[in-house]
Amino acid sequence: MASVLVLNGPNLNLLGTRQPDVYGTTTLRDIEDMCRVHASKIGIDVVFVQSNYEGALIEAVHEARETHAGIVINAGAYTHTSIALMDAIASVELPTVEIHLSNIHAREPFRHVSYIAPVAIGQICGFGAHGYMMALDALALRINPK
Ligand code: DQA
Repeated sequence: MASVLVLNGPNLNLLGTRQPDVYGTTTLRDIEDMCRVHASKIGIDVVFVQSNYEGALIEAVHEARETHAGIVINAGAYTHTSIALMDAIASVELPTVEIHLSNIHAREPFRHVSYIAPVAIGQICGFGAHGYMMALDALALRINPK
């Protein structure tokens, strides 16, 4: 079964209590549980990594090359700043879906820029936790085209 890395960046470990008006009250653990259930329905395996450190996220992307068929990434604020993370994703050449809980395009102008988008197969944002299931669907279709 194809395996997908679900990578979450800085501050996403605080979901549930972090700015619930923006990000909702679903915790990261809840999202992981929802992803596991959904992944088994669509026939993929999921592995989760969360880190508040840019270098750890980059290393997780490098390691994914050996073990995973694709990546779902919510890079948090590194989305808007990290050329290094963009380069890592470009280097491993794994299909990658960018996801955000909030609609980054409807927020502050600095959130409208994504360094991940140019190296992703697509971006999903604004659908809250459900966006992760949409990202898994998109990736599963790319990995195992029907
Ligand atoms: C986020 C949006 C980012 O702008 C922000 O820095 C986050 C969360 C989202 O999921 O909506 O940390 O990636």
